[in-house]
Amino acid sequence: MNERRIRVRVNGELYERTVDVRRLLADFLRDELGLTGTHLGCEHGVCGACTIVVNGAAVRSCLLFAVQVDAAEILTVEGLADGERLHPLQQAFWESHGLQCGFCTPGFLMSLVCFLRDNPHPTDDDIRIALSGNLCRCTGYQNIVRAVEAASRMLATSATRV
Ligand code: FES
Ligand code: FES
Repeated sequence: MNERRIRVRVNGELYERTVDVRRLLADFLRDELGLTGTHLGCEHGVCGACTIVVNGAAVRSCLLFAVQVDAAEILTVEGLADGERLHPLQQAFWESHGLQCGFCTPGFLMSLVCFLRDNPHPTDDDIRIALSGNLCRCTGYQNIVRAVEAASRMLATSATRV
């Protein structure tokens, strides 16, 4: 087995682990760190369920190896809420019924925190284009669009930042 030592900060906590060089980042997060909020759907970069934030960019953790995030800063869905207080985007999904089974939701949230950081006042079209990289088999998307609109309003008056 070909292994490397990596140090990575996830949701503000520093982890140091020895990993197989072929270990997927998504598997590392779920199986090594116990952060099972990152979901695996297609495992080849199509569905977006595994999306996390690495050094400020939304990425698909099924397309990266764990060794590639050595020295990186990572945010996963577990790091969004502030204790018991939901992130405004999570609150908006909850209030707008932007989920049903919830399997896709962590990926949507992690894509959208970056999107709303870069586009704080998106148009409907902007939102629909931003959502196009994440697949949901339950909601029909309309409530997700409403949730993003609500989140952008909430974030405009909130101190929460990614
Ligand atoms: S599991 Fe990574 S994109 Fe589908
Ligand atoms: S809420 Fe079920 S797949 Fe999106």
